[in-house]
Amino acid sequence: MSTTIILDCDPGIDDALAIAFAAGHPGIDLAGITTVAGNVGLDKTTANALAVASFVGAANVPVTAGCAAPLLRPARHARHVHGESGLGAAVLPPPRRAARDGHAIDFIISAVAAAPGQITLVATGPLTNIALALRREPRLARWVRDFVIMGGSAGRGNVSHAAEFNIWADPEAACVVFGAGWTVRMIGLDVTLRARATAAVRSRMGEFGVLGADLLLPALARYADPSSAAPGGRSPGSPGDREPAGDPPVHDVCAVVSVVSPGIFTYTPASVQVETTGRLTSGMTVTDFSPAIIPNAAVATDIDVTGFWDEVLRTYAALAAGLR
Ligand code: BDR
Ligand code: CA
Repeated sequence: MSTTIILDCDPGIDDALAIAFAAGHPGIDLAGITTVAGNVGLDKTTANALAVASFVGAANVPVTAGCAAPLLRPARHARHVHGESGLGAAVLPPPRRAARDGHAIDFIISAVAAAPGQITLVATGPLTNIALALRREPRLARWVRDFVIMGGSAGRGNVSHAAEFNIWADPEAACVVFGAGWTVRMIGLDVTLRARATAAVRSRMGEFGVLGADLLLPALARYADPSSAAPGGRSPGSPGDREPAGDPPVHDVCAVVSVVSPGIFTYTPASVQVETTGRLTSGMTVTDFSPAIIPNAAVATDIDVTGFWDEVLRTYAALAAGLR
């Protein structure tokens, strides 16, 4: 039996790889992709979602655009990491369709309301769409089957010492989401940094025909080398500044893999609170694992890296075979 998901994302190199995994995995029914401003602006995250979905044979999956800016703050992007287009050096054929009419928030609410207990919501970008959907329809928190994010960290950050990009970009939205009364399954940076596309992994991707040659490898090539900054350069305190050069981590893929292979991650109940005002810590996910707390999150604390790549590469291999 497959798991139905909606993927709320900001493609974004690793978001693109997450879309490819979701489209290719036989245990996932990708019911929709919703987009949000994050790594690049909303126009580009939406165009990228459409292009990647078409490229990986998911041209029928509805793509719906959402919020173009965080709840209270100006949009802050990560072009220096993901490239001007948001897909690194990957250049895909332009999509032959436009995004659906309507707003991502309405799409999420109506899809989940129509199938209570059946849809897993996966968020791999800033949490603006999810927060507004919860504000509009608080019962969303009860109606989803599961809610998982790539975001936050129980340890270090990447934008700053304290904060991870997806939470830092819209901390007020993250605050709403963590306070919504559901259990957020948080796959944070401290764990996703271990899911690195090593030379051996990239070499396997080279066997995946156009999937490897036109999407996975050119996207990751740019991701691996943040020093190849886009014109305008890197701003201090931007994601990538604290990433070691070399094997790129595929953060967002972790969130989707966790839906179909729960055993790859180890979780610990925690109370997660989002810092919105700290001068040095804005966007920090303050994570308390002490037994006395009332948990609002299941926080990933370990990853089976070998199992992760087995699952990802097996899925990409099958997807690639279908694209030939
Ligand atoms: C997260 O930030 C983005 O740049 C990536 O797409 C990922 O979702 C990692 O901090
Ligand atoms: Ca992302």
